[in-house]
Amino acid sequence: MASAERLDPWGHVLIDYRKLFTVFGVKPMKDLLEKLRELGPVHRLYRRGIVFAHRDFDKILEALRKGEKVAIVTGFMPSGPFHFGHKMVADQIIYLQSLGARAFIVIADAEAYAVRGLPRNKIIEYTKIYVANLIALGVDPDKTTFYMQTSYEEPYYRLIQMASAKVTMAEMEAIYGDLEPGKIMAALTQVADILHPQLDEFGGYKYVIVPVGPDQDPHIRLTRDIAERLNSEVGTIKPAATYHRLMRGIDGSGKMSSSRPESYISLNDPIDIAVKKLRNAFTGGRATAEEQRRLGGEPEKCSIYELYLYHLADDELLSRTFLDCRAGRLLCGEDKLVAVKLLREFLEEHQKRFKEIYDTVEDYIRLPSF
Ligand code: TRP
Repeated sequence: MASAERLDPWGHVLIDYRKLFTVFGVKPMKDLLEKLRELGPVHRLYRRGIVFAHRDFDKILEALRKGEKVAIVTGFMPSGPFHFGHKMVADQIIYLQSLGARAFIVIADAEAYAVRGLPRNKIIEYTKIYVANLIALGVDPDKTTFYMQTSYEEPYYRLIQMASAKVTMAEMEAIYGDLEPGKIMAALTQVADILHPQLDEFGGYKYVIVPVGPDQDPHIRLTRDIAERLNSEVGTIKPAATYHRLMRGIDGSGKMSSSRPESYISLNDPIDIAVKKLRNAFTGGRATAEEQRRLGGEPEKCSIYELYLYHLADDELLSRTFLDCRAGRLLCGEDKLVAVKLLREFLEEHQKRFKEIYDTVEDYIRLPSF
């Protein structure tokens, strides 16, 4: 591998997904769709190519088929509002739980503190909001361990320390480029996040699947190397991973990101604010209605279409919208009316459930005592 080929998990740019295949050796998800179908109806995120790549996911599917124990590990940095990009991860957890897996969901508060410089009171505030949203969406708390990086169990902290002894500075720099102590800590903590369900103390899950965005692949590669090096001591094996496309911002630029309010719709936005954001969202529309009727729209550039694709539309609406838009039969204004209705219905339902859970959220996660 050329040493210049790196992905930055702490950067803000959209990366070129093709590099994952050509440089980093992930496999296309489409080759596994048949195997997924054997387990039941395939979730739209996998069918629609949003979860587009994997490492060793075939082994996870085999384990699920045989009824073996499988753990999902994923994490959220509590660094801003919970938006539709986060919902996409929740939907994958819910789907994998429906296939029999147990989830370990880490709230990456140590990472948020170290690499985003977030004050601790903000971190706690967002943590409660994240956990309540996840449960309100359908993550099953009976099949989930929610925890924070700063207030968990002893064997987890030992694992961070053991991981630190199994990698050199040169190896870490080859993966991440320049590093600071905070980033080294965050990376090794994430290794323990991903590996700890394999320890007997946490249930001895030998099959671990990590659904992440492609920007997290450096952490996955580091973890897989360290898993092998710890194998003789604690029995860890390489975890599997899946990779999803990241949603673009609804303003049409960059990725949907908590740090840019104009880029996201939060699941906790007051409904009229959310609707207003949607009405102003970037579409694939032409300059004038006449032009659009003549040339057709460009759904592949449209952030409303992307909301349909990831979240709001069933297959029928999705394909009808695509075809009608392309053919110039559907104008953006008309389509936005449909999207507003779907968004409103979803948010009304969701926010009702969120409110009920939010008041009792500390039943589900132990918050740090600071
Ligand atoms: N680094 C992840 C992020 O930036 C959060 C995270 C921490 C995580 N631990 C994890 C993700 C373990 C997947 C698995 O959001």
